[in-house]
Amino acid sequence: MATPAQFKQLVTEASAKLAAAKNPPQLERLRVKYLGRKGELATALREIAALPERQRQAAGKAGNAAKRELTQRFHDAASELTGAGGQPDSVDPTLPGTTYPRGHVHPITLVLNEVEDIFHGLGFDVVEGPEVEDDWHNFESLNMGPDHSARDMQDTFYVAGSEKADGTFGLLPRTHTSGVQIRTMQERKPPLRILAHGKTYRNENEDATHSAVFHQFEGLMVDETTTFADLKGVLTGAIQSLLGEQTKLRFRPSFFPYTEPSAEIDVSSPDLRGGEWLELGGAGMVHPQVLKNVGCDPQRYQGFAFGLGVERIAMLKYGIEDLRTFFRPDVRILEQF
Ligand code: FA5
Repeated sequence: MATPAQFKQLVTEASAKLAAAKNPPQLERLRVKYLGRKGELATALREIAALPERQRQAAGKAGNAAKRELTQRFHDAASELTGAGGQPDSVDPTLPGTTYPRGHVHPITLVLNEVEDIFHGLGFDVVEGPEVEDDWHNFESLNMGPDHSARDMQDTFYVAGSEKADGTFGLLPRTHTSGVQIRTMQERKPPLRILAHGKTYRNENEDATHSAVFHQFEGLMVDETTTFADLKGVLTGAIQSLLGEQTKLRFRPSFFPYTEPSAEIDVSSPDLRGGEWLELGGAGMVHPQVLKNVGCDPQRYQGFAFGLGVERIAMLKYGIEDLRTFFRPDVRILEQF
């Protein structure tokens, strides 16, 4: 084997059989026999290595030419059988079709769809903001100036190349969705009711309840008479719709530079983790200085804002112990929701 004459012989033999092939399955059998990984051509090509050096070059050339020619002939034969020139009986309707695995809506998306529906029902518009935010919208307009210690609560990544003259960074992957409050108030005048959600980023040590990339949803309502009681009513109704009527909410006094008073929102339900209290996010009445920062008169308007973690809600809703599960794209897990 593996001489130029034998490669020629192989092509002649295969071509004759090809010409006689009547349907795609026959053609496929011939393709495997001659061009398959363990087919006759591949076997002959492997034998070239064992030839004396003098013969190797000529055999290699002939082998490659045979491969090109056979590939082309199979290609032509295939289009002849299946294309316009094919025989009427060349399609085998009994062959199984190609089945593609079905995807699945991600549980985070399922929760966010539900959140959108609930807040739509309460008259909130869904708005969007950029994932790469500037320092002013993410921090400064929310009363966190360059040296404010509250910045440390959200250890941050920065965008390389966005350094300013003073050495600080101009752009960052947003650490929370609160910048969307600011963008909305810059564009629209009260009365306002908006919901924003999306990805947020922090320089975290990841564990079962912390990820460096996670999702938040943020609500903002500003009007002349909006009160903390409205915040409690809206959040209690929304969370009970999401997690069940029996869910209790706890508004624990806390601090955010952009709300006053501020609260941390915890939930507990007999059905979820044995009734243990779990933190979902923060909330409060929009700080008068934040209203001033966007040109809104705090003497006339007041409002509330909240920002909650979507993974935490999905964990509770679907009984998932480790939030990293949501970031492993394993359809066997996703299909269960
Ligand atoms: C904030 O991000 C505030 N912007 C919330 C807010 C909005 C307060 C409006 C007042 C007014 P905090 O850093 O606590 O707050 O994050 C809110 C929630 O996001 C947390 O309770 C948690 O549910 C979720 N979260 C925060 N960090 C992570 C993380 N690394 N992984 C998963 N979820 C997280």
